[in-house]
Amino acid sequence: MTILVTGVAGFIGSNFVYYYLNQHPDSEMIGLDSLTYAGNLDNLSNLTVEQKQRFHFIKGDINDKVLLEKIYSQYDLDGIINFAAESHVDRSIHDPQIFLKTNILGTQNLLHVFKEHYDEEKGHKFLQVSTDEVYGTLGPTGLFSETTPLDPHSPYSASKTSGDLIVKAYHDTYGLYTLTTRCSNNYGPYQFPEKLIPLMINNALHHKELPVYGDGKQVRDWLYVSDHCRAIDQVFECGLSGEVYNIGGNNERENILIVQSVLKILREKTGDSAINEGLIKHVKDRLGHDRRYGIDASKIKKEMGWEPQVSFEQGIVLTIDWYLNHQEWTKSVISGEYLDFYQKNYFQ
Ligand code: NAD
Ligand code: TYD
Repeated sequence: MTILVTGVAGFIGSNFVYYYLNQHPDSEMIGLDSLTYAGNLDNLSNLTVEQKQRFHFIKGDINDKVLLEKIYSQYDLDGIINFAAESHVDRSIHDPQIFLKTNILGTQNLLHVFKEHYDEEKGHKFLQVSTDEVYGTLGPTGLFSETTPLDPHSPYSASKTSGDLIVKAYHDTYGLYTLTTRCSNNYGPYQFPEKLIPLMINNALHHKELPVYGDGKQVRDWLYVSDHCRAIDQVFECGLSGEVYNIGGNNERENILIVQSVLKILREKTGDSAINEGLIKHVKDRLGHDRRYGIDASKIKKEMGWEPQVSFEQGIVLTIDWYLNHQEWTKSVISGEYLDFYQKNYFQ
């Protein structure tokens, strides 16, 4: 099997590269990434010598049709898994256009080239990695199922929803074998430190304020990244054409409780008493902030036997240990363009 995986230098993409090459010793992977501020080739530096022989990195944009054609001419691809995206809600609020370009047009471009080379008999497949945010927001009760109406609120989630609908259109119109996964919030190694958990770890380590939006009682469902990678692998292998699969951690928490957990574990691990709740600062709420996400993942459990294996208590310790041991990594990714954005939007 030879697959094209996009967004391999980002958070989930890089975790997936390790997971997939480990699980499939006979497979090859072409990894495509344009290396935006969120992409970092160092994330892939721990591949073994043997894995490196089966992994071929190409720097490029999913909007580049000529490049995609070149990749198809060089490799006999069995399918595409599309992780590449602009992924941060706050950025999408400040500057939506790149979200539309990558998450909508880029997805369509990939699908189009996929269609041009599609061979049903060879079992070609396209998997779109999407998000629970396409469903909008929940009240205090209820869960998102695959049939919940799409109701995105942020430019990020609207762009992901549009990407999902383009995937559906290519399935419905051209009969392509497509799959869509919608996962809840991930956490774990290599997550860019603009997202809640790594941002709080990094700020706390440096005794910086911890910006909690609004009352901090918004709820997210958290899934350790390796569980997400395993789900995607299973869906790519066993998912039915045209279907959507929700993926969730069965682990809903209020943001403020996440921040408090991070503080407690970090303080215990470092012995640094300055890492305490005095660092928490309730700041202006995010515009259009979704109040609660909760996932019904019974379909993937029933059809494929998938369920989370890493509890939040285990996952958060693994994550904090990773960031403690990779402070150079954090320093190196927080630079240049990212720092400008961060300072402009959070510290003025
Ligand atoms: P990320 O921002 O860490 O990584 C995205 C990667 O895509 C980066 O390496 C970036 O360089 C690359 N990229 C961006 N634009 C590109 C383009 N035009 N062409 C090629 N490469 C490009 O994101 P992530 O958190 O790893 O998310 C990966 C996917 O999973 C996204 O599609 C996201 O919507 C989805 N998702 C993320 C979460 C989460 O909690 N992080 C949850 C559910 C779904
Ligand atoms: P985030 O990690 O950006 O993921 P998403 O918006 O895709 O769910 O944010 C998770 C939650 O944490 C969300 O409710 C917003 C909140 N949040 C803060 O309160 N402070 C922060 O500094 C960040 C980045 C997020």
